[in-house]
Amino acid sequence: MNSEKVEIFDTTLRDGEQVPGCKLNTRQKLRIAARLDEMGVDVIEAGFPVSSPGDFQSVSAISKLIKNATVCGLTRAVEQDIKVAAEALKDAKRPRIHTGIGTSPLHIKYKFNTTEDKIVERAVAAVSYAKTFVEDVEFYAEDAGRTDNEFLAKICTAAIKAGATVLNIPDTTGYCLPEEYGRKIKYLKENVKGIEGVRLSCHCHNDLGLATANALSGIMNGARQIECTINGIGERAGNTSLEEVVMILRQHQNLNLETNINPKFLYDTSLMVAREMGMFVQPNKAIVGANAFAHSSGIHQDGVIKHRETYEIINPEEVGVTESAIILTARSGRAALAYRAKKMGYELTKLQLDSVYVEFLNFADARKEVVDTDIHQIMELSRKNNRAFA
Ligand code: KIV
Ligand code: ZN
Repeated sequence: MNSEKVEIFDTTLRDGEQVPGCKLNTRQKLRIAARLDEMGVDVIEAGFPVSSPGDFQSVSAISKLIKNATVCGLTRAVEQDIKVAAEALKDAKRPRIHTGIGTSPLHIKYKFNTTEDKIVERAVAAVSYAKTFVEDVEFYAEDAGRTDNEFLAKICTAAIKAGATVLNIPDTTGYCLPEEYGRKIKYLKENVKGIEGVRLSCHCHNDLGLATANALSGIMNGARQIECTINGIGERAGNTSLEEVVMILRQHQNLNLETNINPKFLYDTSLMVAREMGMFVQPNKAIVGANAFAHSSGIHQDGVIKHRETYEIINPEEVGVTESAIILTARSGRAALAYRAKKMGYELTKLQLDSVYVEFLNFADARKEVVDTDIHQIMELSRKNNRAFA
């Protein structure tokens, strides 16, 4: 059965760059945008052009540079924002304006002090105005996660009628449960007039650690675009992580969903974004963390050395990591020690290994990790102290 395509909308340069301390200059943004294009991202959200002259300049420069991906600029449902975004995107091969407004009761009451009907009017006006500049207009219903589904369907129907080509359903506060978010997408598929002609998009935040699970639930219920970032960076606890959704779909082929992303670029792009933003990745981060392919317990090491798939569901080379790491600690066993020693040129008999292992445990108990220089020292001591080497 042929797989259906899920588009990857990368917002590292917009939602990701909103993170305190992650501000990038135009040169850095161009470097990241070029990489995103090369790795197969479908849509690059390059920035929020009206927010500052620097952001305008970055969106404009990225628009000129990018050859394959759609380049997108964010706006509020405000004429000036839309006009400025259109200007910044004017040289893009495939420009998209991303406009929208808060739709939850909290946003309508406290941010806008208005009524649902007026919010629909503003949404329609924004989409219609954006349509005068570009064909491709994405509408976002901010805080859709906490918006009543009936009202959400009403505003989405109106946005489609005004010309929206993509409907973004953000769980802006990261509130939804996966089942609830999936049900929302399903409800929209079944109740929005004209939905068959547009693409539904998931934009999920990670406040409860559910951003990836929610986006996945969204696409399992009919959405066909995921908004995500490299390393999952973004406002507060971040967004859905690009590398996670890409690898989930590769691992679970039975979903019959695929992306355009070349996974070989994942690790290097993660390093690039971390370096440029000065925002380092937690070691236990899925797919790209320093420990994602590192094994330290003796039981796991023994299994991986015998057959990698006993404890690894992804071949590290698939995501651009050269090899699995066997970390030597006091929890490691003889198999791991022999494996590392062999890589360093020490071929040990069984008897020799037994004696080296005793020295190794003495070392390992005093350290967090045993490194290659320690191994040389352990071998020296073992040679001096043990008849097995005679
Ligand atoms: O989280 C959100 O709702 C957003 C929108 C501006 C798309 O980032
Ligand atoms: Zn967001």
